[in-house]
Amino acid sequence: MTEDPRILHLRELRQQARLGGGADRIAKQHAKGKLTPYERLDLLLDPGTFHELEPYVVGQNDELGLSGEKYLGDGVVTGYGQMDGRTVYVYAQDFTVYGGTLSETQSDKICRVMDLALRNGVPMIGLLDSGGARIQDGVRSMGGYAEIFRRNAQYSGVIPQISIMLGPCAGGAAYSPALTDLIIMVDKHSYMFLTGPEVIRAVTGEAIDPEGLGGTTVHTAISGTAHLAAGSEAEALALCRHVLRYLPSNNVENPPFQPPADDPLRMDPELNSIVPLDAATPYSMHAVIEHIVDRGSFLELQPSWARNAIVGLARLGGHSVGLVAQEPSVMAGVLDIDASDKITRFVRMCDCFNVPLVTLVDSPGFLPGVDQEHRGIIRHGAKVLYAYSEATVPKISVITRKAYGGAYIVMSSKYLGTDVNFAWPSAEIAVLGAEGAANILFRKQIDAAADPTAERARLAADYRQRFNNPYHAAAAGFVDDIIEPQETRPKVIASLAALRDKYSPAPPRKHGNIPV
Ligand code: HXC
Repeated sequence: MTEDPRILHLRELRQQARLGGGADRIAKQHAKGKLTPYERLDLLLDPGTFHELEPYVVGQNDELGLSGEKYLGDGVVTGYGQMDGRTVYVYAQDFTVYGGTLSETQSDKICRVMDLALRNGVPMIGLLDSGGARIQDGVRSMGGYAEIFRRNAQYSGVIPQISIMLGPCAGGAAYSPALTDLIIMVDKHSYMFLTGPEVIRAVTGEAIDPEGLGGTTVHTAISGTAHLAAGSEAEALALCRHVLRYLPSNNVENPPFQPPADDPLRMDPELNSIVPLDAATPYSMHAVIEHIVDRGSFLELQPSWARNAIVGLARLGGHSVGLVAQEPSVMAGVLDIDASDKITRFVRMCDCFNVPLVTLVDSPGFLPGVDQEHRGIIRHGAKVLYAYSEATVPKISVITRKAYGGAYIVMSSKYLGTDVNFAWPSAEIAVLGAEGAANILFRKQIDAAADPTAERARLAADYRQRFNNPYHAAAAGFVDDIIEPQETRPKVIASLAALRDKYSPAPPRKHGNIPV
């Protein structure tokens, strides 16, 4: 029996669509170690679950009359699929079609799946590989980007939006990800810059190395724009699947529960000896976290940027939590501008998506000095206060050692609305560290002493003895309980269970005015 020619034609078109900008350009893409959109979606989604929308759309505009060829799909593959059986909407740009650049038509396709994701309350995943606005499309491509940015902003906090950077993402292709919840980059393959090297070369004549301009190291360690780095495209796509397991599909759902392999009542005796007796000796807060959470569940975000602060998703008794902490072995865990920004954005993401917050505190306070003051530590530090105060998810804090002054207050203190406040016996809750306090309170006495250094040390020791412990603060009601470090896991898990039905609506308002 001869096949219906109309069906044969459809099959040909389908094949053509999968070829994007053609076999030669696909070969070039492969030679760079990069995949096609379809290959990427196969790795991202549960096998056989991807369904494409609008594969036959072609670009509608060509203001400059330059684009010879029209390509099916116009440089982006859009549709829906599943991750661990949960629906997600996706778009994947095709670098083989005009460098994956955004035309008005491409924008229409992306906005369509964004709208569908919102209406269905499911995550939106973008796979970006794009030279930004398509020059041939003129101003229409600019409008196209604005349509995407507006949706990124309006859907923020309603559905999770994740951007996976899989190539040189320039201009608008960098701004849209910056508006999403999480950015994943691939080492040596992803770049984010507002102005690409070609444009810089045209304007200044300068040849710029894309790696140094906006490579993965730049954005994971220096600018703080990206959250996770992967060694390959496959690893980046797997990371996206992994991170989504900690998040709900939308802001009215709870994150998915995974039955824990780790005993929720497990005590961890090693924690009892983890904080050194000498307050000036650092220890690893990362190690503390690993001892407390469900084994192997900690997924740190932005691990290479503002390393004095730690943020990440984990599980406690199978429930997703957001962990915030200081790392006392990096700059003594001081709070500076970058640490403040890092903590603020994470606290707000957790609050959007009903992920309870567990904060481990060991910080000597805000970083003093001209540089930080001039760059706005007041403004940036205020964000942390704002974010914790505003967050209505269950909040639990554990003070492991230093909680001095501003650091005590901003780091999820009881008076910012933290529901359950624990301290370890090593906690030092005070307005200032002992040396600083003694210097200010007893300056005259120290100056007048025969041996000022010895006198300062004696007064500091006295202050430390009286105030650098949790009992003074506990007597004033600042902490709910002082616990042995080894009890932390069962205590925090029990508190989370007691807060599971927390209802704490925010006062009605349009939105607050967070200091940015
Ligand atoms: C149209 C573009 C393009 C663009 C690249 N191409 N950028 N076509 N508009 N913006 C095309 C190339 O002509 C080429 O077509 C193909 O994509 C691959 O590009 P190459 O340069 O050969 O690849 P590569 O060497 O890997 O370099 C990629 C690149 C570079 C780093 C992205 O092309 C570049 O710097 N482009 C300019 C990026 C930029 O500055 N964009 C900002 C746009 S402004 P062929 O036919 O050979 O395959 C913007 C406004 C929004 O986005 C701002 C919002 C705030």
